[in-house]
Amino acid sequence: METVGAIADLRRLVAAARRQGATVGFVPTMGYLHAGHQALMRQARSECALVVASIFVNPLQFGPQEDFAAYPRDLERDSRLAAAAGVDILFTPSAAEMYPQGFSTFVTVEGLSGILCGAFRPGHFRGVATVVAKLLNIVHPDRAYFGQKDAQQLVIIRRLVRDLNIATEVVAVPTVREPDGLALSSRNVYLQPDERQAATALFRSLLAAEAAITAGERSGDNLTALMLRVMRSEPLVRPQYAAAVDPDTLQPLPSVRERVLLAVAAYVGRARLIDNLALALGPEGPRRITL
Ligand code: PAJ
Repeated sequence: METVGAIADLRRLVAAARRQGATVGFVPTMGYLHAGHQALMRQARSECALVVASIFVNPLQFGPQEDFAAYPRDLERDSRLAAAAGVDILFTPSAAEMYPQGFSTFVTVEGLSGILCGAFRPGHFRGVATVVAKLLNIVHPDRAYFGQKDAQQLVIIRRLVRDLNIATEVVAVPTVREPDGLALSSRNVYLQPDERQAATALFRSLLAAEAAITAGERSGDNLTALMLRVMRSEPLVRPQYAAAVDPDTLQPLPSVRERVLLAVAAYVGRARLIDNLALALGPEGPRRITL
């Protein structure tokens, strides 16, 4: 694995591989890698001749009161994990390389960015869309891999790629979880032992909603109330929202019909955690799907 920090060097390496006919896969991350990130890298490895991953803690997607400074970083460990997952090139630009003096162009995916997490994190998805647009322009991958864990981000990036005619296929990868259901997240390191226990309430709230749908519940309001109730049963969990939305538009579903995205967000201690389940409803009940 080769590690490069300069955009020009990265472009040269990717162009050379592309001249040999290599399909290019790309996995953007903010580092502090875990098995969820590695699942994206392994899938890219299995589908592409050249696998590029980036590690960049993007200041633009953090609010002023958020954890940019505290966000965990460990490049040495990340390098080992990326290499083990089959990454060929690790791109680790500095903030100055990505946002030099005078930087003033931003990408906003309207409509999808101000709801769900966007309602609680103003400017967050503008920061995500801007950095992902830049990264896709730098790497020019055939395929870019995103986790379903961040379902709203995935939907926004699909929209961005379509709207700006970016010649990259967006590939969604299922959420990787701990044995007790907690979705892997770089932010799980913030959790104290009792908070780590309580944090399973996010996934349990989704399971409760899934079970209710299996039992015939279709009301979006009732499902939302159920998810909030399960999260609130843990005193250490402070829910931000629970929602049953259309997986394409992210708009609340008054009544669940063919497909539903169940999404939750909560603070547990100082960690802001999110989770979701996407379901397709068939005659045999709900089936979990990847978006
Ligand atoms: P980060 O949180 O590091 O996540 C990088 C990628 O890994 C995202 O596509 C995310 O959905 C995926 N991922 C995280 N946890 C996962 C899990 N448990 N299972 C499966 N996939 C998981 O998301 C970002 O960084 C940034 O917003 C980024 C897209 C890099 C732009 O800065």
